[in-house]
Amino acid sequence: MTILSAVLLLLAPRANAAPAKDQCVICHATQGDSHQAILKSFSNDIHREVGLSCSSCHGGDSSSDDFGKAMSAEAGFVGAPSKAETPKFCGKCHSDPAAMKKYNPSLPVDQVVKYYTSVHGRRLQAGDSKVAVCTNCHTAHAIRPAKDPSSSVYSKNIPRTCGQCHSDAKLMASYKLPADQVAKYAGSVHGKALLEKGDTAAPVCNTCHGNHGAVPPGVENIGHVCGMCHAHNEEFFQAGPMAKAWQKRKFHICATCHNHHDITHPTSDLLSSGSGVCRKCHLADSPQVKAAGAMKARLDEIEGSYKATQAAILAAEEKGLDMAEARDLWDGARMSLFQAKTSVHTFRPEKVAEAAAPGLEATGKARKAADDAVKDFGRRRVELGIATLFLTLLALGLYLKVRDIESEQG
Ligand code: HEC
Ligand code: HEC
Ligand code: HEC
Ligand code: HEC
Ligand code: HEC
Ligand code: HEC
Ligand code: HEC
Ligand code: HEC
Ligand code: HEC
Repeated sequence: MTILSAVLLLLAPRANAAPAKDQCVICHATQGDSHQAILKSFSNDIHREVGLSCSSCHGGDSSSDDFGKAMSAEAGFVGAPSKAETPKFCGKCHSDPAAMKKYNPSLPVDQVVKYYTSVHGRRLQAGDSKVAVCTNCHTAHAIRPAKDPSSSVYSKNIPRTCGQCHSDAKLMASYKLPADQVAKYAGSVHGKALLEKGDTAAPVCNTCHGNHGAVPPGVENIGHVCGMCHAHNEEFFQAGPMAKAWQKRKFHICATCHNHHDITHPTSDLLSSGSGVCRKCHLADSPQVKAAGAMKARLDEIEGSYKATQAAILAAEEKGLDMAEARDLWDGARMSLFQAKTSVHTFRPEKVAEAAAPGLEATGKARKAADDAVKDFGRRRVELGIATLFLTLLALGLYLKVRDIESEQG
């Protein structure tokens, strides 16, 4: 280290150390490993970052170095809260708009109220201390805002945080709940998108279940949570022939066909008359399963055409032919393919056909253009071959003729 940087280090504000007169920190720093661990965690805690310290949460007299005085009831000391006491302990500030406004006016102050509407909160109130309270999700001394990748509530870390309990088969069995949500989620389209591809548009546990409340804001119940992102699918379903009957029977409008935690990439096999989803409720020779068959045929047709067109374009491009126009048509057909898949949720074959029509037309045109170009290319090759042969023969003839003349003269 250079002398200059050593001096700078001495002069720099000690961002990571508590104010020297904080006797709570000074004395706890001399205590055993568990206290050291708390101080180490707390050095990166959001509360420390905004200037709060031990006594802000635990009370007590932080100016006293006397064990009894510093942590006395007279000085307002509260020790470690029990789980039942924790919401109120955190709510001292987080439910107090005036207290929070000084720090961050845009931070909501409804966590405690909402928490008591959730299954966790309701069971805590009923005396169950195995549920999650504030510190189970946020920790007690390493609290970070959700957008910080090191936070226990950062999107990618959420499955692990919930999994502390929800992957504990023994604990969950006592509630007759499965303990497979985290594992299933990790293998789902959503889990793979978030955990493997880093796509934060994909939902994680709290996106669907809410952070604190029973369900996320703006969703009337968990049955409608998928529609937050897949709006058209829900719109079509709600306007379709099954909405009323399903509502009456309390079927989940999406999970009934797609599941909720282990959602996989859907294919038209879901519509097959043998083992498709419709067969869960409709008979093999019913009009509903026939409708499914008609939708499947149309989806397979456009998907097949889309793939065949791609192959045809690639084949043409390999021969060095310019396929820009065909490519544009093919690209445009993708939209139609997706719309056709989404239209399945009307459960009306004519709607799927309608959505697929422009795509089928575009891929048809593009494939014809690619095939024609390749054929044209082939024909030109043959013509060129014939012309070459003709010219070669002509040259040979000329050569022989010249030799004849030369030998006649010679
Ligand atoms: C944001 C509020 C908050 C702040 C600030 C805070 N604590 Fe805590 N502390 C808690 C909670 C909540 C618990 C209860 C334990 C739990 O829920 O995990 C706790 C528990 C403890 C315990 C009991 C041991 C344990 O881990 O259960 C000690 C010791 C402790 N805190 C010391 C400190 C010290 C020292 C500081 C300052 C460096 C501090 N705390 C700052 C909230 C806080
Ligand atoms: C002179 C040393 C000393 C001072 C000053 C001190 N503590 Fe402690 N504190 C301790 C020791 C030692 C323990 C552990 C007691 C035990 O294990 O029974 C402890 C325990 C705690 C606990 C855990 C109590 C529980 O219920 O388990 C908390 C929380 C705590 N201190 C917070 C504070 C706060 C806040 C301050 C400042 C206002 C403070 N301490 C000042 C030495 C001190
Ligand atoms: C003494 C008041 C006080 C207490 C008690 C308190 N907090 Fe805080 N908390 C704050 C302040 C102030 C902030 C910083 C707000 C800001 O600047 O964004 C904060 C920030 C947070 C954040 C980050 C918010 C964000 O920006 O996303 C979380 C999470 C949090 N607190 C959880 C807790 C939990 C859990 C407890 C109880 C263990 C607790 N707090 C106890 C005052 C408090
Ligand atoms: C089941 C887990 C869980 C519990 C229990 C929980 N939180 Fe949270 N909390 C979260 C998640 C997840 C987020 C935000 C994630 C995001 O914004 O992406 C959050 C966000 C916050 C924030 C930031 C502001 C906001 O509302 O988004 C504060 C403050 C906070 N929690 C405090 C608390 C307090 C206080 C309690 C106890 C009453 C509590 N939390 C209980 C999971 C939990
Ligand atoms: C400290 C342990 C713990 C943590 C951490 C935890 N939970 Fe829970 N949770 C429970 C327990 C125990 C129950 C059982 C209550 C019941 O159903 O009666 C429960 C119930 C639930 C339920 C209701 C299940 C039902 O239908 O009855 C949902 C949903 C839930 N938790 C979601 C979450 C999510 C999402 C997270 C993470 C953000 C999370 N939990 C974190 C312990 C925890
Ligand atoms: C895409 C939305 C979504 C995501 C992501 C999600 N869930 Fe669920 N979860 C649901 C739906 C829907 C239900 C069924 C609710 C019902 O039937 O009332 C459910 C049910 C549950 C239940 C009740 C028991 C069960 O398995 O049916 C628990 C516990 C639970 N989820 C926890 C989690 C945890 C933990 C995660 C993260 C690993 C998670 N969920 C991710 C939508 C989701
Ligand atoms: C927060 C937004 C969000 C919510 C809520 C949500 N999803 Fe998704 N979903 C996505 C995103 C983003 C993708 C694309 C992931 C990828 O890259 O493959 C996706 C993909 C899917 C796919 C696969 C599509 C395909 O072509 O492979 C299905 C099926 C699906 N979601 C169903 C559901 C169901 C059912 C629910 C409710 C239980 C739900 N989603 C809730 C955002 C969401
Ligand atoms: C009765 C069964 C059924 C129900 C109910 C259902 N789906 Fe589907 N869903 C399908 C079928 C079949 C496909 C497959 C189409 C294909 O890809 O060939 C599909 C495809 C999808 C896709 C991929 C295609 C696209 O639109 O991007 C998503 C996402 C999706 N469904 C979401 C939902 C959501 C959200 C709900 C609830 C509002 C829902 N589904 C309800 C059967 C259903
Ligand atoms: C969870 C059970 C369930 C599943 C799965 C299911 N349906 Fe239905 N379906 C119903 C019920 C219930 C009705 C209403 C029956 C009634 O009112 O007689 C219905 C009605 C219909 C109707 C309207 C019939 C009419 O005469 O008005 C169509 C069309 C239909 N379903 C198609 C499908 C297709 C296609 C699938 C698969 C993609 C499917 N259903 C999957 C339960 C289901």
